Amino acid sequence: MRATVIGLGYVGLVTAAGLAEWGHDVVGIDGDERRVRALRAGRLPIHEPGLQELVAAGVASKRLRFSAPSASAIAAAQTVFVAVGTHDGNGGWQTTTIRRALAGIVPEMADDATLAIRSTLPPDFIRQLPWIVNAIRQEAGKRAIPVMTNPEFTREGSAVRDFLEPDRVVIGVGHDPHGRGESMLRKIYRRVEAPVLVMGATDASLTKLGANLFLATKISFANELAQLCDAYGADINDVVAGMSFDKRIGGGFLRPGIGFGGSCLPHQVTMTVRESEEMGTPSPLFAAVETVNHRQRQLFVDRIARAVGELAGARIALLGLTFKPDTDDLREAPALEIATALIAGGATVVAYDPMPRARSGAADAVPGLVVVDNAMKALVGADAIGLVTEWQEFSQLPWGAIASAVRRPVIVDGRNALDPEAIMAAGFEYVGFGREGEIQALAARAAAAEQDVDVSSEGAEPVRTPRKSIEAALSGRAMDRSVGVDAIQAKPSGA
Ligand code: UGA
Repeated sequence: MRATVIGLGYVGLVTAAGLAEWGHDVVGIDGDERRVRALRAGRLPIHEPGLQELVAAGVASKRLRFSAPSASAIAAAQTVFVAVGTHDGNGGWQTTTIRRALAGIVPEMADDATLAIRSTLPPDFIRQLPWIVNAIRQEAGKRAIPVMTNPEFTREGSAVRDFLEPDRVVIGVGHDPHGRGESMLRKIYRRVEAPVLVMGATDASLTKLGANLFLATKISFANELAQLCDAYGADINDVVAGMSFDKRIGGGFLRPGIGFGGSCLPHQVTMTVRESEEMGTPSPLFAAVETVNHRQRQLFVDRIARAVGELAGARIALLGLTFKPDTDDLREAPALEIATALIAGGATVVAYDPMPRARSGAADAVPGLVVVDNAMKALVGADAIGLVTEWQEFSQLPWGAIASAVRRPVIVDGRNALDPEAIMAAGFEYVGFGREGEIQALAARAAAAEQDVDVSSEGAEPVRTPRKSIEAALSGRAMDRSVGVDAIQAKPSGA
């Protein structure tokens, strides 16, 4: 099939390269000429694992090419995917970009072509979409075209795999009286083994929104549960693992810490709270999800402040800046808010992230933030270490050596990503989220080992049989999303 993808950001570029991988002829269009030139020269505007290779393979096979806005590329397409930005940069939606894009694209499309909107947009706009599009067609003296939506469910950091092997494909029908749009999209996704769900365009838009709201709710739920675990001296990893074997619950997205960031979850929760308020149907649940999420960042700052006694004059090392590993994206990254709060408290904050673009972006965004290009430069002389992003390399740092290079050996692990046993054995005090029970058990074990006492007979936290395998899987998940609580959960069902 011949497809044109408008907008070559995180969503559009993965879509274009993925469609080419499936054998379609794809033209990727972007209004930013520098971006198009860079892509033609083989340089990607974003860091996304596997994307460089996918783009290179598409270009080499001649099934993928990049172009500035081109009427002929649009006229030749059987399907035009639109993946332009929809954020106003201030926590809200904006539809100006997509309206402008549609005004340029829609009149050029062939009469038998299909329009498929991939951008995430407010349900209200999606409801109006068929009228907006076909009014443009009418004005141009052209026939009505199928107006479809095709929301994406890809995560940054694993977008290539999520695109090529989706859990499901959702096709939203805005205007498709003869089923031409549906059959076109089915052909495009024929290589996918996952279920293809066809529904109304507004339903599709709420499916996308609902999925993200649910994920955000799970994270805030885990953060609340972690608070309880700390208060009762329980271990969140055991609790989540125990819960996750229940098929109704599942184990994914229940990792507590500094909360969710990125361009999707925070924005969509905020917008839902705002819009539902405006519609007269307030969403107390989603409002609470947002409140908990912001509290987590403050809790992290408080824990660092408690660890150093006095923020003013303290030197804090922050490990990681991006909102999650395997991306260079700083949008709504908790690190920015955390660094700002620590600096406001009088601390000197020295941060390191493996991604050069994230380092320069954070230095620009947070006045007073010191950014270094090597983890050790941040760590030496620190009064406290805060782990913000669970990059793989942080688990492999020489913690024993670092303990003697810092001023005070304390780590606040904002992602529950490190192994407290190893960290404590290296000489650090470890502070996590919901891991109080685990830390107490480790401390009791260490004390008992010193006195050569059998802890289980002393009434201390016993070392449970599945402990090691659960720990291995959970710490593996923290650093490598290919295994995880989901993997543990999958065991009993054999799924
Ligand atoms: C999210 C969704 O997961 C995708 O399905 C969706 O397609 C995408 O938004 C979108 O709407 O485009 P993404 O923003 O890339 O994807 O990142 P996530 O993997 O969802 O992580 C979001 C944040 O939650 C990160 O800051 C992550 O560290 C945090 N998180 C995640 C937790 O704090 N705990 C968890 O258990 C999981």
